[in-house]
Amino acid sequence: MKAIVVSGTPGTGKTKTAKALARKKNYSYVDVNKLVRELKLYDSYDRKRKAYVVDTKKLNKFLIRLIGESKKKLVIDSHLSHYLPKKYLELCIITKCNLKKLKNRLEKRGYSKSKVRENLDSEIFDVCLNEAKEMGHKIKIIKT
Ligand SMILES: Nc1ncnc2c1ncn2[C@@H]1O[C@H](COP(=O)(O)OP(=O)(O)OP(=O)(O)O)[C@@H](O)[C@H]1O
Ligand SMILES: [Mg+2]
Repeated sequence: MKAIVVSGTPGTGKTKTAKALARKKNYSYVDVNKLVRELKLYDSYDRKRKAYVVDTKKLNKFLIRLIGESKKKLVIDSHLSHYLPKKYLELCIITKCNLKKLKNRLEKRGYSKSKVRENLDSEIFDVCLNEAKEMGHKIKIIKT
């Protein structure tokens, strides 16, 4: 069964959106951040960014198996979820958020200046949205 993925710049509201959608449609919510940590789907830890460097090949392989084996339809929450091939997805949601609001949210999390900057740039250039378009997904943009 095809899945819905929710991608977008960190802090734009993926988790909130994905959980609400899963509840509404009675799909299972998949917390990719948790899976990455628990199943060690990363190459290394980036100390400067305080973030895991995810092995997207490994992650895709795992998610494709999950989509194939799940009895219930899935809502997958991750800023890397749009890298899944088109044939496994019914929809790719991209969350977007006003830049001022995003800056506030990221600063509140205690992110470093450079990490805030990097994420704001990613939002300004619509990195996730453009990559999702390149993958050929059916896209819905949700402003949070
Ligand atoms: N629609 C919304 N309206 C108001 N606040 C929101 C909305 N969506 C998210 N937020 C707030 O923005 C913050 C970040 O949201 P959330 O954790 O869902 O982002 P995220 O994209 O999942 O981030 P990450 O990539 O780091 O997991 C939270 O404090 C959340 O309450
Ligand atoms: Mg999240």
